[in-house]
Amino acid sequence: MEFTIAVLAGDGIGPEVVRQGMRILDTVGRHFEHRFTFREGLVGGIAIDTQGTALADETVTLCRAADAVLLGAVGGPKWDDPAAATRPEDGLLRIRKELRLFANLRPVKTHAELLDSTPFKPEILEGLDLLVIRELTGGLYFGKPKKRWANTRGRRAVDTMSYSEQEIERVLRLGFELARGRRSSLVSVDKANVLATSRLWREVAIEVGKQYPDVELRHMLVDTCAMELIRRPAAFDVIVTENTFGDILTDEAAVLAGSMGMLPSASLGGRAPARRSSAGVSRAFGLYEPIHGSAPDIAGEDKANPIATILSIAMMFRFSLGLDAEAEAVEAAVGEVLASGYRTPDIATPGSSVVGTRQMGELIANRIPGA
Ligand code: IPM
Ligand code: MG
Repeated sequence: MEFTIAVLAGDGIGPEVVRQGMRILDTVGRHFEHRFTFREGLVGGIAIDTQGTALADETVTLCRAADAVLLGAVGGPKWDDPAAATRPEDGLLRIRKELRLFANLRPVKTHAELLDSTPFKPEILEGLDLLVIRELTGGLYFGKPKKRWANTRGRRAVDTMSYSEQEIERVLRLGFELARGRRSSLVSVDKANVLATSRLWREVAIEVGKQYPDVELRHMLVDTCAMELIRRPAAFDVIVTENTFGDILTDEAAVLAGSMGMLPSASLGGRAPARRSSAGVSRAFGLYEPIHGSAPDIAGEDKANPIATILSIAMMFRFSLGLDAEAEAVEAAVGEVLASGYRTPDIATPGSSVVGTRQMGELIANRIPGA
């Protein structure tokens, strides 16, 4: 089959990890007889420098015309001036909003081989396999008013947390659908003891939950969830939560997996789904990116872990392209390379063979079997 992939590499280590993602796409294309055509666009700091905006209209058009989007990372010290009119992060937020990617899926698993790379006792991580679904186009990130001003009494700023029932319903519905294909347990995370948006969230969760009697629904306050995530992480199956809570909880959850460099993500929504895939939901247009940032401290040094990006490609196969066998082949290849003792510096342990970004990508590509 033929697919067009929009590639927005971004800043810092973004281009390095994305390059390895493209290598995996090329390898899968050769072995499984698909053709992936790449259309590259700019996002983030590099877009500010060359196009004067963190995401140009032409880049949005390029993404809309593609079957899926692969994104690296944005940001860096060069663009960190708090007084700047545009920030690299604006590009990321705009692409999510423009493409209506309302659900951000962040699966967290432990690879048996990486148990030594986490600060947790092995028994805490045993059986860990959870999926955080973060609402991605609402809440504090986009609510209006959002501004800063000054008067005679000093400076002031406001952000607004706002949600409509439709925004809450669609992301919860996806959560229930995905929970059905897993262990049928869903934790809806909110702060209903304080926030009006959270009380609406909980009400809608109960309503949607009635249509999924086969899925166990629990409600948890976000502060309790932060604690339970490190106390008994294996007890979670699917977590669904609003934008800001999801941002914070997924960085915390990344520690469970050993490194930010291991965690992929899929942002779904938008365009009409084509057909059902084994992932349990209909195929949807999506944007795929590692959850880590641009890591400017190691950019250009061939030290970044490309596994989060490579696992994001597996998610792209599953959720947007309907290539389930290809997704499994990529995930198995990652597992084999880790089992053989190869590690990038972020997950290195005594006795492991430390390799760079490029070599890790090559090792994984070489383990991808033919169709
Ligand atoms: C993430 C990041 C972004 C976010 C930043 C870079 C804007 O932290 O994808 O989790 O807050 O959504
Ligand atoms: Mg984040």
